[in-house]
Amino acid sequence: MARYRVPFTYIPAQFSRNRERILAAVEKVLSEGQVILRQEVQEFEQGFAEFVGARHAVGVGSGYDSLYLSLRAIELDPGDEVITVSHTCMATVGAIVNAGGKPILVDVRDDCNMDPDLFEAAISPRTRAVIPVHLDGAPCEMDRILAIAEAHGLTVIEDVAQAAGATFDGRRLGTMGIAGGFSLYPFKMIGAYGDAGMITTNDDGFAAKLRALRNYGVDRETGDYVAYGANSRLDNLHAAILLQLLPQLPQWVERRREIASVYFERLGGLDGLILPTPPDDRYKPVFLNYILRTTNNDRDAFRSHLAEQGVETLISLSRPIHTHPALGLQHFSLPKTEEIARSYLCLPINPEMTDEQVEIAVSAVRSYFD
Ligand SMILES: Cc1ncc(COP(=O)(O)O)c(C=O)c1O
Repeated sequence: MARYRVPFTYIPAQFSRNRERILAAVEKVLSEGQVILRQEVQEFEQGFAEFVGARHAVGVGSGYDSLYLSLRAIELDPGDEVITVSHTCMATVGAIVNAGGKPILVDVRDDCNMDPDLFEAAISPRTRAVIPVHLDGAPCEMDRILAIAEAHGLTVIEDVAQAAGATFDGRRLGTMGIAGGFSLYPFKMIGAYGDAGMITTNDDGFAAKLRALRNYGVDRETGDYVAYGANSRLDNLHAAILLQLLPQLPQWVERRREIASVYFERLGGLDGLILPTPPDDRYKPVFLNYILRTTNNDRDAFRSHLAEQGVETLISLSRPIHTHPALGLQHFSLPKTEEIARSYLCLPINPEMTDEQVEIAVSAVRSYFD
């Protein structure tokens, strides 16, 4: 396989910068034999809660589980509807169905996130909850979503899998609903070297319920089984490594924003290219992804051109969830979602990119449109 001058992934670079502290953390956990729900999990949960500004953080096995367990905790009745978008990772919708809910999918806006008007229009007497997905590191319009949810008595569970560190109106994502579900998958804002996730909440009772649900349903203080739970514990080894990486998260966010500002400046105004919605006073994205869209139905040609220039790109949502026949969701009509899926790609953006690599990516894009 050809090596890209600007690859999409960056784990080797991140590991080599942190090699000693990561290996020391692994050594400590293994030599002490502390592998399940031990001190490192608690410390990482505490550090993550502080980073997000939430009262509690509960470590779980994946981002999917963070949503699934949050939905289990609100105890959906059969037929209860949960509104979300189709322009998301399959995990969001799968969590709804597997927790016993019925997904209602609404379209996104040009910023690739939930359209609050369409959310409001989709509410029915059976609606229980809404999952706004802060895709690509960009916040949803949370003040409107929260107001609509409150007016209709709906529970809000934020899907923050891609947006740790982002804010809306000065508020950190993951603190606004009953729960925020984070993925700690390797290529998220902060990632384990395997699967991991986190749920944040300000509700003491909800946190206690989640701690039981992730561990077969047991209340560890009393030994009572309080629900039929899952096995979804954040591994102590992952937590020990994540603890070493967490202090770097603020600077990673800054580096991503810095690269994004170069992209905005150098790629603006090209005919045939749409850039992401830029930050403003209210929306402070963290740029997990930098989304480019072509307007001439030539995304694949553009992508090949970038590959020839040594720039790797990613397209993970090219077939929207509601278009897969086996899922039974084809009755949803979501033109914006489909348009975005056909026209977008992710340009590399990550904290390990050098200025030179940013420049290569910029030149590669410009040379296609110039
Ligand atoms: C928006 C969104 N939600 C949920 C998930 C699920 O996270 P995980 O892969 O950790 O299960 C992801 C991750 O891919 C995601 O991008």
